[in-house]
Amino acid sequence: MSRDTSVRFLVVSPDETLEDEFESAFGSIKDYRCVATYARDERSGVESARLQLPDVVVIELRGEFAGVRAFAEEIAHVAPDAAVVAVYRRQMFNDADAETSAIIDVLRVRVQDFLRRPISIGELQQTVDRLFNMPVRSTGPMGKVISFISNKGGVGKSTVSTNVACELARRHPGRVLLVDASLQLGICASMLDIEPTQSITDAAQQMDRLDSKLLEQLALPHEPSGLRVLAAPPTVLAATEVDDRVLSRVITLARRSFDYVIVDTFPVLDGVVLSILDLSNIVCLVTQVMVPVLNGTASLLETLGQLGLDERRVWILLNRGQPAFPAQLNPADIEEHLGVHLRHDVPYDKRVPQAVNIGQPLILSSSRLSRFRRAIRGIVDDIEEHAPTTQASADSPATEQERDVRTAQEEAAVG
Ligand SMILES: Nc1ncnc2c1ncn2[C@@H]1O[C@H](COP(=O)(O)OP(=O)(O)OP(=O)(O)O)[C@@H](O)[C@H]1O
Ligand SMILES: [Mg+2]
Repeated sequence: MSRDTSVRFLVVSPDETLEDEFESAFGSIKDYRCVATYARDERSGVESARLQLPDVVVIELRGEFAGVRAFAEEIAHVAPDAAVVAVYRRQMFNDADAETSAIIDVLRVRVQDFLRRPISIGELQQTVDRLFNMPVRSTGPMGKVISFISNKGGVGKSTVSTNVACELARRHPGRVLLVDASLQLGICASMLDIEPTQSITDAAQQMDRLDSKLLEQLALPHEPSGLRVLAAPPTVLAATEVDDRVLSRVITLARRSFDYVIVDTFPVLDGVVLSILDLSNIVCLVTQVMVPVLNGTASLLETLGQLGLDERRVWILLNRGQPAFPAQLNPADIEEHLGVHLRHDVPYDKRVPQAVNIGQPLILSSSRLSRFRRAIRGIVDDIEEHAPTTQASADSPATEQERDVRTAQEEAAVG
């Protein structure tokens, strides 16, 4: 089971204190990284669900349940893969029988699970486990999102991400999407000798109808590797149409259609990059053997920590963009300087710039003996091994609450 899988909640309730309850419970949830947005009423809840495609929509039951069915149906329409969970206060019911029969009624109207207030870590954990360990879930396993970031430009994010994406695609043809989120200066298409006829700006312009199918249509094929590419906007002006909402939606959809989603970024920690980090299983922080770059990397690492990014999700990739020079720092010096382990070390290869110019990533033409090839393949092996897809099988024995819910679900199904 992956500890780095993000689960996106949308919580719909007029009560602001519910937000605090969820936020304080999320930090203690094991195996999943929970992030949430909040809507105060059902109308804005449906609108947010349509734009954000959350994994779980939580609706608070207050008084009467008539509206719950209509709400759950609307959610099924705008975000068909989202699970709907009802939350309520026990005091709403006169006795346990009234509570049980209300739960059964709610489970009949497309609500998959329930939580009691105040939210307890244990119940929330069981609910998340139940929803994401279910043997049959319409979403199927979610793809892995691997993003490439840096604090400084020109360190080799596009080079490494494109080569990694090509190698992954060779191993999983048609199952890998490269998203060029280097919005103002994306070069991935050109590095792959693809003439972009459409780009992420088309996704932004069609947000209202953007679904997995449209995303797949917008992804350009790279025939030599089997990779699909969502190109960067064609102009700086077109880039202004793409914001964090677009990136969130694109990645959320992409991880449902592809096994691997590789995201190349621009060296700015803005809303767009933050939304990418939120959804990344692995964040590859690319750095170089230059003291100023390493200082910047140390500072970016600190910022990522302050943002609450789990350090196990951050891999430091050293990319040697220049030939070796005298008195160069060695990997041990760099690890000491940064205080972290270097996950991979990509060597300088003078054929890289030439490969960029002819639009043929070096990984596709390099010989078995090439050190560059070995390094890229090493990163890909690591991704395959250490970023397992979600959805382990639910073999563990059911807890009492799980049994309650399953019984109620069965009763709802037959009733
Ligand atoms: N391992 C390498 N060996 C040789 N040259 C390299 C290597 N990695 C990158 N380069 C060269 O370094 C330059 C910068 O690389 P690249 O464009 O991938 O950086 P970037 O981090 O994506 O830059 P930006 O922040 O501007 O998007 C390119 O000319 C590329 O060919
Ligand atoms: Mg780049």
